[in-house]
Amino acid sequence: MAKSIGILTGGGDCPGLNAVIRAVVRRADAAGWDVVAVREGWRGLVEPIFEDLGPQQVSGILPRGGTIIGTSRTNPYKLEDGVERVLQNFADRELDALVAIGGEDTLGVAARLYAEHAFPVVGVPKTIDNDLSGTDYTFGFDTAVSIATEAIDRLHTTAESHNRVMVVEVMGRHTGWIAVMSGIAGGADVILVPEIPVVYDEVTEAIRKRHARGKNFSIVVVSEGCELPDLADAGETDQFGHVILSKRGVGEVLGREIEERTGFETRVTVLGHIQRGGTPTARDRVLATRFGLKAADLALAGEFGQMAALRGDDVVAVQLAEATAQLKVVPPEWYDVARAFFG
Ligand code: F6P
Repeated sequence: MAKSIGILTGGGDCPGLNAVIRAVVRRADAAGWDVVAVREGWRGLVEPIFEDLGPQQVSGILPRGGTIIGTSRTNPYKLEDGVERVLQNFADRELDALVAIGGEDTLGVAARLYAEHAFPVVGVPKTIDNDLSGTDYTFGFDTAVSIATEAIDRLHTTAESHNRVMVVEVMGRHTGWIAVMSGIAGGADVILVPEIPVVYDEVTEAIRKRHARGKNFSIVVVSEGCELPDLADAGETDQFGHVILSKRGVGEVLGREIEERTGFETRVTVLGHIQRGGTPTARDRVLATRFGLKAADLALAGEFGQMAALRGDDVVAVQLAEATAQLKVVPPEWYDVARAFFG
C-alpha cells in the first residue's frame, strides 16, 4: 500500500494556500505517495473529515484564493479529548505524515503535538500578517500589502478632492507589517502600528504640519491591533484566545479623535477581509509553491518537527519550535523608514 501524507490548512485563509496544496500533491504523487486532505484545519482530525486529493483535484488551483480543503480556528487543545482524537484519527486513517499550513496558532499546535507525542508533522508558514519568526516572509503577505497599497492609492483621490483626512484600517493583529509596508508603498502621511504606542498629539501634529505647508488632505494608515487610549475591549475571543479585532473599531475611534482635535473632515475605511481575498500575487504563488515542495520533501524524508522557511532567497528547514516561540514584530528600523515621510 502506498504511503500517505495528510494536509491541512488552519486559521484565517490567505492567498497562496492552494498553490502550496498543489505543490505538495504534485511532489508526493511523483514519489508514489498518496495525499489525503484533512478538511477544515485541525477540526478535520478531531472529527474526522478526510478526502482523497490527487493531481486531478489540484489541477487549475494555482491562481485561486482561499483554500480548497477548508479552514477553521479549531484548537484541539481546547476541546475535550481533542488531542487524543487527533492522534487516534490520524492512526486510523493510516497516515504517515502531516503537512500543516498555518500561522502562529495552527503551527503552535503542530509544534506541541510534535514535542509531546512525536507527531510526524511538518509546517508551512502562512499568514497575511507576516508575523512568524523563523522565516523572512510568509506567503499571503505580499498579496495583502498589494491590495492595501492599491486601496491607499485610490483613497488619495477622494482625500485630495474633498480636503479630507482618510483613515485606513488594515489587518495585522499583533504586528504592524501590513500597515508599515502598504503605508510606505502608498505614501501614507501617518502610520500607526501595535509595536509603537499611539500618541494622539503626534498624529494631529503631523496632520497639521502637512496642512500648514499647503497640503489639505492626509492619509493615516492604522493597524487593527493598535491600542488607543480610550478604546473599549471588544471582549469576544476565538478558540486561541485572540480578540476579534475587526469588532473593536480602531479606525472609527481614531477617525473621530482626529476630526475632533483638528477640525478636519475625516472618513474611515476598514479594508478587512478584502486583504485576504482573491488571487495571490506572482510572488506569493512562487513562494507558496517553493514552500509546498520543501514541506513535501521533508515529509517524504521523515524529517518531522520542521517548517519550510525563507531565509534570504533560499527555502530552508527550521525547527517548528523555534518558528513558533515568538512573534516577529516590526523592528524600529522599518518604522523609521515609514516615519521619514510623516507629516
Ligand atoms: O491572522 C490573519 C488575520 O486576517 C488577522 O490579520 C486578523 O486579525 C484575523 O485574521 C481576522 O480573523 P477572522 O477572519 O477570523 O475574523
